[in-house]
Amino acid sequence: MPAIEIKPDIYWIGVNDRTTDLFEGMWPITDEGVTYNSYLIIDEKKVIIDLSKAIKTDTFFDNISEKVKLSDLDYIVINHMEPDHTGVFQILRKMAPQCRILGTPKTKKMLETFYGITDNVIEVKDGETLILGKTELVFYHTPFVHWPETMMTYERKNRILFSCDGFGGYGALQGTIFNDQCGNIDFYKKESLRYYVNIVAKFSNPVLKAIDKLKDVDIAVIAPSHGLVWRKNPAEIVKLYKKWAEYAAGKTEAGITLLYGSMYGNTEMMMNAVAQGISKEGIPVEIFDVARTHSSYILPSLWTKRGVMIGAPTYEASLFPPMAQAVGAAVHKRIRNKKMAMFGSYGWSGGALRELEKLTEGAKWELTDSYTFIGRPAAEDLKAGENFGASFARLVKEE
Ligand code: FEO
Repeated sequence: MPAIEIKPDIYWIGVNDRTTDLFEGMWPITDEGVTYNSYLIIDEKKVIIDLSKAIKTDTFFDNISEKVKLSDLDYIVINHMEPDHTGVFQILRKMAPQCRILGTPKTKKMLETFYGITDNVIEVKDGETLILGKTELVFYHTPFVHWPETMMTYERKNRILFSCDGFGGYGALQGTIFNDQCGNIDFYKKESLRYYVNIVAKFSNPVLKAIDKLKDVDIAVIAPSHGLVWRKNPAEIVKLYKKWAEYAAGKTEAGITLLYGSMYGNTEMMMNAVAQGISKEGIPVEIFDVARTHSSYILPSLWTKRGVMIGAPTYEASLFPPMAQAVGAAVHKRIRNKKMAMFGSYGWSGGALRELEKLTEGAKWELTDSYTFIGRPAAEDLKAGENFGASFARLVKEE
């Protein structure tokens, strides 16, 4: 996509990526895509804010050259060093060596370790301003949204906050960069949540601190480095991020994530009975087959919902490995304080439940009930499973 004007003399010059399969080498985006948003401000001083991953670099440099000569650039503002925003650095450095690079003290160190760049680098203090001509930039240090060196940059004249990973989301552009022109906003909200839980959620406290720090800043446009530019009601994405960040410690939604895996259909039969019981109680339930669903899609449900129902067979005297992997991913992402129940089939000895409790102990997933059975569930087992699901749903509702 060519450069897009956001405000007079301020342009989106990013890259729309529909070819990368795995974000950070692990999170699937084959169907959804992603953007690496970069921005250009043309004033007496000419500035690029954040760069791009080293993909489609021809498009990226075409977007810059469309508006300004590389030799005329004065500054590059680096809000965040992760290579999805800095991958083009080595080429850019060769093409525009005169550019001064602005970032936090930690950014300065990372520029050396990631790219061997040590000259023309300027540390900016928290709250420091830089006059560009008619407008000026203010730098706010926001550590750990998402790495320790991160900051956000505020452009005063047009009241634009360049927030980098903060308020960003997965999702390639579908013809527009702006939220008010987007006819598929629910897709971007869903992908923002998936991005939040996959990438940022572990740093929810720093996210809340950053939101609090910026609460008195007059923001008309939020321009993150992934996903849509929020120029209509930018408070909407801030509110969503705040809500998701507060889930880390506070009360989540009255709903149940039902994770199951099944080797020969026995645990799956029980899963259907348990799900019937849950649904009869009128509580939302999301069901995932852990052997067939990447944890990227499971984690948002676990993050937002209060209850977790686990359906897994015993496998070689332990928990069904795809379930251990899914639960392990949730524990790694600090998904904590859940009500949990477990059901599953075993052949001759149990073991799944014991391993599940061990896995989730540190994350405080409280086991409230369990129902295990040998081999194929009989009709009375299925009836009991339905009641088991209903009683767990009531417990989650009542909390
Ligand atoms: Fe979009 Fe943490 O990089």
